[in-house]
Amino acid sequence: MAPHFQVYASTFLLLVLSSHWMNVKSQNSPHFACDIGKNPILKSYAFCDSSLNVKTRVNDLMKRLTLEEKIGYLVNNASSIDRLGIAKYNWWSEALHGLSDTGRGTSFSDDLVPGATSFPQVILTAASFNETLFKTIGKAVSTEARAMYNVGLAGLTFWSPNVNIFRDPRWGRGQETPGEDPTLTSKYAVAYVRGLQERDDGDKNRLKVGACCKHYTAYDVDNWKGNDRLHFNAEVTKQDMEDTFQPPFKSCVLDGNVASVMCSYNEVNGKPTCGDPNLLKEIIRGQWKLNGYISSDCDSIDVMLTKHHSENTAEEAAADALNAGLDLNCGDSLRLHTLNAIKAGLVNKSVVDRAVSNNIAMLMRLGFFDGNPTKQMYGTLGPKDVCTPANQELAREAARQGIVLLKNKLGSLPLVPTTIKSLAVIGPNANATRAMLGGNYAGIPCQYTTPLQGLSALVQTIYEPGCNNVECDILQLDKAKNVASTADAVVLVMGSDLSLEDETKDRINITLPGQQNALISEVTSASKGPVILVIMSGGGMDIQAAKKNSKITSILWVGFPGEAGGAALADIVFGRFNPSGRIPMTWYPQSFAEKVSMINMNMRPDLATGHPGYTYRFYKGETVYPFGFGLSYASHVHHLTKAPNLVSIPLHMAHVCRSSECTSIDAMDDVCTDLVFKIEIGVTNVGQMEGGHIVLLFSSPPKIHNAPQKKLLDFKKVFLGSRQQTVVSFKVDVCKHLSVVDEDGNNKVALGEHVLHVGDVKHTLNVNI
Ligand SMILES: *[C@@H]1O[C@H](CO)[C@@H](O)[C@H](O)[C@H]1NC(C)=O
Ligand SMILES: *[C@@H]1O[C@H](CO)[C@@H](O)[C@H](O)[C@H]1NC(C)=O
Ligand SMILES: *[C@@H]1O[C@H](CO)[C@@H](O)[C@H](O)[C@H]1NC(C)=O
Ligand SMILES: *[C@@H]1O[C@H](CO)[C@@H](O)[C@H](O)[C@H]1NC(C)=O
Ligand SMILES: *[C@@H]1O[C@H](CO)[C@@H](O)[C@H](O)[C@H]1NC(C)=O
Repeated sequence: MAPHFQVYASTFLLLVLSSHWMNVKSQNSPHFACDIGKNPILKSYAFCDSSLNVKTRVNDLMKRLTLEEKIGYLVNNASSIDRLGIAKYNWWSEALHGLSDTGRGTSFSDDLVPGATSFPQVILTAASFNETLFKTIGKAVSTEARAMYNVGLAGLTFWSPNVNIFRDPRWGRGQETPGEDPTLTSKYAVAYVRGLQERDDGDKNRLKVGACCKHYTAYDVDNWKGNDRLHFNAEVTKQDMEDTFQPPFKSCVLDGNVASVMCSYNEVNGKPTCGDPNLLKEIIRGQWKLNGYISSDCDSIDVMLTKHHSENTAEEAAADALNAGLDLNCGDSLRLHTLNAIKAGLVNKSVVDRAVSNNIAMLMRLGFFDGNPTKQMYGTLGPKDVCTPANQELAREAARQGIVLLKNKLGSLPLVPTTIKSLAVIGPNANATRAMLGGNYAGIPCQYTTPLQGLSALVQTIYEPGCNNVECDILQLDKAKNVASTADAVVLVMGSDLSLEDETKDRINITLPGQQNALISEVTSASKGPVILVIMSGGGMDIQAAKKNSKITSILWVGFPGEAGGAALADIVFGRFNPSGRIPMTWYPQSFAEKVSMINMNMRPDLATGHPGYTYRFYKGETVYPFGFGLSYASHVHHLTKAPNLVSIPLHMAHVCRSSECTSIDAMDDVCTDLVFKIEIGVTNVGQMEGGHIVLLFSSPPKIHNAPQKKLLDFKKVFLGSRQQTVVSFKVDVCKHLSVVDEDGNNKVALGEHVLHVGDVKHTLNVNI
């Protein structure tokens, strides 16, 4: 078969046609305020004067607004205020892994911007463990966002990233997150947010676009056996809250300086998060000092009233949310009910002022009140800057860096084009397009390179789907076996898509869907050459049968790899790129799904109930593949070159632990200053092929306070040529990295033996006073 180059053109045509049918009206001027050219009087208004500080400008505008006008600034669909030259603004745009038209503030248009670069779904990007990559993607996305804003097709506020912990493998939205580990999730959040928000001129108070860390907090059940997110009450211990669910949000605000945090649909310990003053006002605003706005999830104020029944009237729900510290409502509740809530004395006008001021301040920092954006920084960006070759290459690079090699019988992969002259490409995802984007926050991609197209560009292929669709209830075995028996090698592309894993859709089973296992085993038996199994999925799959089947020579996990997924896959299969990704979540056996209730939020195991606990930090049972697993075409050895055996904490003579036995001490400022040391690890690539290598530094703290059995302290990714070596250095902060959270949610430095692990290397470090 000839390479499928003609297919690209027809895919593009299809996109153009489908946008026509969607009847998206294109626009070519942006929404903004303070158009002095059009209305010279605006020049005399302080709020339009970009040389003044934000606070002064906000106060000036607040003085000019009526209460009704202010209320219009409490909802995502903010009204225009024509008498003051302020255009309408829709706060709701999404950019989880590229510009998306899921929110009301962004749309594509056939004549101006028919699509945007669609990067891999986040779970695969996270598998690259490359902070530079996370940030670089954020930066590319915000450039496309500004380009679309300039032609009236996007907003400036994006409700991404999703930084909830991927606690349970069945969660339909786990794919949107960076995985199960709080350290990786926090680092992803910070890097992606900074990539989106930071301006090239380094002005910290102004933002390129505004990001949003969501969904705050302990949100990770969408719909499992009748438990849906709109009714779900997450019962979370103080300990799990502090060492699992909160850290990504805390980092996002403190280290990422995120523009926004969004509260979630669920309740936490009996209270809807969007109406909880402790979670919003005290923690996000008070302790973390958010410089930005707190938003609701879409319609979640209404959900408080109608699903959680935590209030009796719509006015009470509106008042509770505002009083709790919420600033912006995705939805209409605050537009409809705030005035009556004020009249009923349920909320004070000063609270509305606080919320509106926070929202307006954000738009000021985004330049919305600075006049025509095409005359400001980023003003020359336009349609030509969307789907650039560089951004599309970055999408392919991100997929290559994330793809994980799970099994490789010596010499199976990479395929050598001189021996493998024909390839049977089989499976329901073998020619996947939309499935490669994952989830429902994808936009329209610039184009697709399907697995079949990617492989066909390098070798002669024969394609058979083998099943009717990913649910695979009808097998098409004969043709699939036939092509497998004649080709030099087989690539099976299996897994799921958004019909099985998505928002509002949690899985019941974690096996491959329908009859996919039968297809795999039949095709494998019939095959002439090596069989490469490719799993396209968001969550982990129980693929023990394939793992054990010796005729399946290699297994790759490609997540949902984005628009260039097929090209990236081909790069790896034919050795143009050495895989270096590691799975960012535990792959459990199906028995886990049969035994564990998804609504049990406890991270820690419980002997009394038989709950085995969640994630590599607490779960001790059998896994199909552990967190952090991933192979390379090279191999690497580690050795410790520098690490202390002992760290002594200088305690004041009067400290209580001087006179009595302590197993831990409070990680407070007085003991924590300058308690930092270095660990250095030598890494050598002892293989034949150059490539990336991820160094994961774990520690096992002393067994106190139900501490995790192991936790990721930090990670670094290095690139090494064959036989090349390097030294990777980690700065370990005793209070941050060697602390554990106790049962009351307090951070404690654990005294005693901490075992550090890097690959096979272990080192014991004693922490004492
Ligand atoms: C947005 O608000 C305006 C009023 O400011 C209203 O006319 C319009 O219908 C609203 N649009 C949506 C989608 O709610
Ligand atoms: C409104 O403000 C007054 C004065 O500070 C205070 O006494 C009252 O409790 C507030 N009302 C509400 C609903 O918070
Ligand atoms: C693969 O998918 C592309 C894009 O949908 C389509 O144009 C092409 O015909 C498909 N190829 C085969 C062999 O079915
Ligand atoms: C889950 O697996 C069980 C046992 O194999 C099966 O009976 C059930 O139909 C499966 N459910 C779904 C939703 O796939
Ligand atoms: C990390 O990603 C960046 C951006 O794509 C890339 O330039 C760099 O080579 C990557 N690092 C490694 C070690 O692969």
